[in-house]
Amino acid sequence: MPILELNDANLLLAASTIQTGGLVAFPTETVYGLGANALDAGAVAAIFSAKGRPATNPVIVHVRSVDAAAEVAEVNEIATRLMDAFWPGPLTLVLPKRANVPDVVTAGGSTVAVRQPNHPVAQRLLDIAGVPIAAPSANRSEAISPTRAEHVLASLGEKILILDGGPSEVGLESTVLDVTVDPPRMLRPGMVTVAQIESALDTKLASTLGADVDIARSPGQMPRHYAPNTPLSIVDDVWAVANAARHQVAVIAWSAPRVDDYGDFMIWVLTDNPVVYAASLYETLHEVDVAGVDEILVERVPDGQAWAAIRDRLTRAAAK
Ligand code: TXA
Ligand code: MG
Repeated sequence: MPILELNDANLLLAASTIQTGGLVAFPTETVYGLGANALDAGAVAAIFSAKGRPATNPVIVHVRSVDAAAEVAEVNEIATRLMDAFWPGPLTLVLPKRANVPDVVTAGGSTVAVRQPNHPVAQRLLDIAGVPIAAPSANRSEAISPTRAEHVLASLGEKILILDGGPSEVGLESTVLDVTVDPPRMLRPGMVTVAQIESALDTKLASTLGADVDIARSPGQMPRHYAPNTPLSIVDDVWAVANAARHQVAVIAWSAPRVDDYGDFMIWVLTDNPVVYAASLYETLHEVDVAGVDEILVERVPDGQAWAAIRDRLTRAAAK
């Protein structure tokens, strides 16, 4: 059984698998990661083959402390302030890399992305393994990220060891911030928002998210990403569209249902609280995607920064 229940013996097994160059999927507070020893080029290369991930897309290095981050990255003053404010937590910092980080981790680039996860199981795994752990999300490339051990199993199959830590609380991938430039620049929105970062630094970021973001700097920004297999559309008046639909639709909404006939389609009403919505979005997409409908209709989410990461992931999920 590739899903390992959480106990000391399985944590040791997972840690020794990492130490000996193997792969382990493990829980973080954002999504599950597919981990390998970040200092072992061969082990990290195996992550790319297991995911079908293009070698041009660098991976995040997970560390157990600020000091451990400084062993793989050149930590500057801005980064130190952000680590103080947000670590452990869902903020990834891109910094100049040190020579010990293999090229496969950084896609040949001179920077490395580092993050200290805020999940007790990830932290214990990092402690016992005693090495930094490179880990992208534990799904096939371009699929929806996993927020449960079962999602990892469904996406990557029986060959990978999966440490079960229950559902991921944040539910969306970390915010990725480039701190090699001053002021820093947002590369991927997450539940740590622009406003929170600007207030911690007491300065404006270089650019908010938008069309000017340079895709080559963070390939995770490619338009199609995080996508279900079922076609997904974002619609304004989701209840009107759903009521009028002639094909089989599933609705994901945050507003109260206004339906003519409940028998007509499947409904997932999340919530108008963005933090709670984020926590259940991927789980909902995983469920809806296997429900066998023709189309997923997602109600456009409200404006504003608190919804920025959710809006970003939904836009990519809807991209053809
Ligand atoms: O929450 C998360 O970040 C999860 C958990 C497992 O930590 N990981 C995750 O990894 O989402 P992944 O590989 O799915 O996304 C990593 C993102 C990608 O957009 C990648 O392009 C960007 O981080 N990235 C990694 N290294 C980078 C670098 N050196 N420069 C710029 N972007 C980088
Ligand atoms: Mg991913």
